[in-house]
Amino acid sequence: MKIGILGIGSYLPERILTNKEMESIVDTTDEWITSRTGIRERRIAADDEATSDLSYKAALKAIEDAGIDKDEIELVIVATTTPDYSMPSTAAIVQDKIGIRKAAAFDMEAACTGFVYALTTGYSFIKAGIYKKVLVIGADVFSRILDWEDRGTCILFGDGAGAAVLGEVETGGYLGGDLQADGAGAQELIVPSSGSRKPFREEVLTSRDQFVKMNGREIFKFAVRAFPETTAVSLEKAGLKIEDIDLFIPHQANIRIIESIAKRFKQPMEKFYVNLDKYGNTSAATIPIAIDEARNEGKIKKGDRLLLVGFGGGLTYGSCILEWSK
Ligand SMILES: CC(C)(COP(=O)(O)OP(=O)(O)OC[C@H]1O[C@@H](n2cnc3c(N)ncnc32)[C@H](O)[C@@H]1OP(=O)(O)O)[C@@H](O)C(=O)NCCC(=O)NCCS
Repeated sequence: MKIGILGIGSYLPERILTNKEMESIVDTTDEWITSRTGIRERRIAADDEATSDLSYKAALKAIEDAGIDKDEIELVIVATTTPDYSMPSTAAIVQDKIGIRKAAAFDMEAACTGFVYALTTGYSFIKAGIYKKVLVIGADVFSRILDWEDRGTCILFGDGAGAAVLGEVETGGYLGGDLQADGAGAQELIVPSSGSRKPFREEVLTSRDQFVKMNGREIFKFAVRAFPETTAVSLEKAGLKIEDIDLFIPHQANIRIIESIAKRFKQPMEKFYVNLDKYGNTSAATIPIAIDEARNEGKIKKGDRLLLVGFGGGLTYGSCILEWSK
């Protein structure tokens, strides 16, 4: 049985925060951000928008694109680092908002690799014969966990959501993939006060430990190491070579990471889909948003082979190769 994407959709909040506006928030410049990251602007969720709201809007588009009845969905997975609550799961809230009568629902935390993890999990449930149609969502409202006094992190991220309906396809679909983690690097990208290790107390406010802490240089080095490593595994599993990939859909973190990978793979930059200039790093949402936009721009045709590659906190990384079936 071939399993692939039946429908895709995405949602970005309306509010645009430009680099120029960033200059009035932290000690930075448009020139510094653009030259070091490629990011020009990002979207910020409205005060009353949480991760489930973004997820819901992306999911409705994916369901419509798939042309299925919502009640055919048997499992909802939301990959996110910024759930509405630690309990209940954001996936359960989304299941209710969509009005799916009977579906399992759970969240998945694999930071910026979340969508690749969720897609692989959804694929596996279908492959095992447990469910026929699975809704996978990558969504984050990072603006809520950013330290808006830390210029090393707050300039990088934005809010957004992307969703895909997985199911049986006639041609193509999932050809091979790989998931990995290196927990030894856990401290390099972390929200220290976000769980049982350091519960939220008054002193947390002074240390600002409720916000993202990142060792940017180490994460950069990790990304350029992890990307080719996981790509090699996926290519081997799919029995393909790098030249067989029609479009690379990399996690949108930094243009310099993508450029260095393109150079290493000896592939032209035109083969790498880039929209981080508009949205920054939307964490688990970058990859499904990119697939949706690339498809809408006519950059993905039936039979094209896409390589999705994610990396992020955990440290986690992973990839998969999909042959577009629609
Ligand atoms: C964060 C990142 C853009 C920093 O770029 P960099 O070239 O490594 O810059 P450095 O951290 O070496 O800092 C260089 C200087 O710029 C300064 N700087 C950092 N952020 C700045 C900002 N927003 N504006 C102006 N200056 C800034 C630093 O303080 C440092 O100054 P110093 O030399 O006086 O100490 C880069 O490391 C990066 O993108 N890393 C990967 C992060 C990532 O993708 N995370 C998510 C993964 S899922």
